[in-house]
Parts: sequence; C-alpha cells; structure tokens
Amino acid sequence: MDRHQAVVERVATQGGVVMLIGGLDSGKTTLGKTIAAAGVRAGRTVAYLDADLGQKATGPPTAVTLKMLRSPAEVPEEGPPAVLGEPDAMYFVGSTSPSGQLLPLVVGTGRMLARAVDEGAELVVVDTSGLVSGVYGQILKYHKVELIQPDVVIGLARGEELDPLLGIFQRFFDTEVLVLPVHADVRSTSVDERARNRERGFREYFAEPVQRWRVKPTVFMPALPALFEPEQLDRILVGLSDGKGNTLGLGYLEYSREEGVLRLSSPAAEGPKALKLGSVRLEEDFRIRRVDVRNLFGTD
Ligand SMILES: Nc1ncnc2c1ncn2[C@@H]1O[C@H](COP(=O)(O)OP(=O)(O)O)[C@@H](O)[C@H]1O
Ligand SMILES: [Mg+2]
Repeated sequence: MDRHQAVVERVATQGGVVMLIGGLDSGKTTLGKTIAAAGVRAGRTVAYLDADLGQKATGPPTAVTLKMLRSPAEVPEEGPPAVLGEPDAMYFVGSTSPSGQLLPLVVGTGRMLARAVDEGAELVVVDTSGLVSGVYGQILKYHKVELIQPDVVIGLARGEELDPLLGIFQRFFDTEVLVLPVHADVRSTSVDERARNRERGFREYFAEPVQRWRVKPTVFMPALPALFEPEQLDRILVGLSDGKGNTLGLGYLEYSREEGVLRLSSPAAEGPKALKLGSVRLEEDFRIRRVDVRNLFGTD
C-alpha cells in the first residue's frame, strides 16, 4: 500500500473534517473523491464540500457547493466517483477565482460546512482552490482553517510551495497536518483547458429548463446606486436568494432596451426573493469576463 492509499484508508474511516490543500493540479480533487468514496464504502455519511470556485467537482463555477454521499450506490465499487452529480446545496460567491472574493468564499465554506453537519455528515471532505502562496493565499487558507477547524489537513506538496502555509497551520492550530508528495501520475491542465472546463460547467448548469423572471431594481446586494443605468447589468451573473439566507441557484441578467426591462434567467425551481451580484459577465458560449462591481457603480 503506498502512502496515498494508507492516508485514504485512515482518513476515510476516522476523519471528521478533512481539508485538502495544494497548488494547481496537485491532485486535490482526485484524492478528495477517493477519500469520499472510501468513506461511503465504510458505511459513513459523507459530505463533499467543494470550495474551489473554478474547477468544480460538483455544481456550477462561482459557487461553493455541497454534495452529500450517503450510500455506496452513489459511488462506483472501485476507484473514485468520476462525477459527483448535482450538489445538494450551494453558496454563491460570484467569481471563478478567490481573488477579490476572499470574504464570501470563507463565509460560504463555513455555511456549507454547517449545512453538511445539519445533513448528518460524519466525514466532510473539503476541496479547495490552488491559491496557496502569496499573502492572499495565506490569508485565505489561514481563515478557512480557523473557521472550519479541520481535524486533518492534507497538503499535496510540490517542492517547497506549501511550506509557509503548513508551517502556519502547525503554529496556530492543533489540526493534524499530513504531507503527501504530488502523485507521479498527475497531469497538468492548461489555462485553456481550465477555461473550457468552466464553460462546460456553466453550460451544463444552464442547460436545464431555464425560467425567466422580471427583476425590480430594488432587489440587489450590493444595492444599485441612484441613477444607475440597469443596462450595465446585462449578462451579469447573480446568485438567487430565498430570503432565508440560502442560495437557490445561479442566474444571469438580461436587459431589454426596447422594453426598458431587466430579466433574470435561471434553472432554479423557485423564484428568488433577492439577488446577489456576481463579479463576472457570462458572455457568448459561457465565456466569462470579470467585472468589478465598484467600477460598475462608480463608487467605493
Ligand atoms: N493519483 C492519480 N493518478 C492518476 N491521475 C491523477 C491522480 N491524481 C490526479 N490525477 C490527474 O491529474 C489531473 C489533476 O488532478 P486534480 O485532482 O484535478 O488536481 P487539483 O484538484 O489539485 O487541481 C487530473 O487530470 C487527474 O485525473
Ligand atoms: Mg481540483
């Protein structure tokens, strides 16, 4: 049994909250699915908490998502589940990367963990983005660990990249830190492939029957400034709120100049009570363009 397998066996049967940390293409998602599948086979109720906003294991990009895995029927007999299927819950962050969105990303991770616990999860596997270095990478991961208090952090290390971060975890917290080398079979994904993956994620999400609703300009967070031209919201991605603190799903806005009307398109089953503005526009073929809401509003 190699070291990866030994860690999988132990964590899947004994772990509570297990967080995976590593750079881009370090094998986090593959290992996370393997641990989740082994946990389910061991008879445990498992939650897969996907806090990577771009390269999703479950659900659409721009959201922190949660998939409950309760029975072996949901995972194949051997190997990791190739796809986890539709998420059970999500939290809209509104960006495909953590940059500029550390606060909603950490809050969303905390909310989805609380939901996993409510759903009876015995093992929670927390998958994360590849942002592990620099000041923002450290601030992000530090606060995630501080909030969700994993009992095990698994670092998938390539060279010395993770040393500062894992050192911080060990100094500040009593979480167990396990370090594994990046698996020899890991394949790197190009920038282009990542973009295609994200586009596929959006395309699949919006492929379901999409409903349209007329949108009043008063429903937004952040609130639209006075004299704001609603046309500027055309194709902006939004999160649909149920008015009880939960994300119903994602949608995008469309502005009809002829009618002077703003509309929302979303596969969510239920109409929203309010909308959270994202920081991307969904353009043709689900390509995305970043938007800074402060620039859009012309405010701070
Ligand atoms: N143990 C492994 N054996 C074979 N291929 C792997 C293994 N781990 C990862 N890969 C491959 O490497 C690529 C990146 O892995 P992934 O788990 O998506 O990394 P990350 O989530 O860190 O970005 C994927 O194509 C995946 O199939
Ligand atoms: Mg991944």
